[in-house]
Amino acid sequence: PKITYVQPGGERRSVEVAPGATVMLTAVANGIPGIVAECGGAAMCATCHVYLDESSAAAVPPVSEVENEMLDSAASGRRDNSRLGCQLVVAPGVDEIVVHIPSHQV
Ligand code: FES
Repeated sequence: PKITYVQPGGERRSVEVAPGATVMLTAVANGIPGIVAECGGAAMCATCHVYLDESSAAAVPPVSEVENEMLDSAASGRRDNSRLGCQLVVAPGVDEIVVHIPSHQV
């Protein structure tokens, strides 16, 4: 599977991953700009905020209560497709997750 990151300017980059990878950790490990992840993946900071592409809506689990609360403090503004990148795990059988990086995280 792969995770594809779309920058605010439209630049796309895909990274091959193994099942179990998260959108946040994969971005940090591969130098993808725009994912800050201050809390290290604990759903406590909202600086890993991404907008989930429509094509990936069925590929990820629903928003948890903790994630839902944190998303309200996302710096670039919450939308219907807002998610925390640290909570987006590539499940077995998923081919691709596409996310859009917000313009700012803090
Ligand atoms: Fe802090 Fe995701 S890394 S909420």
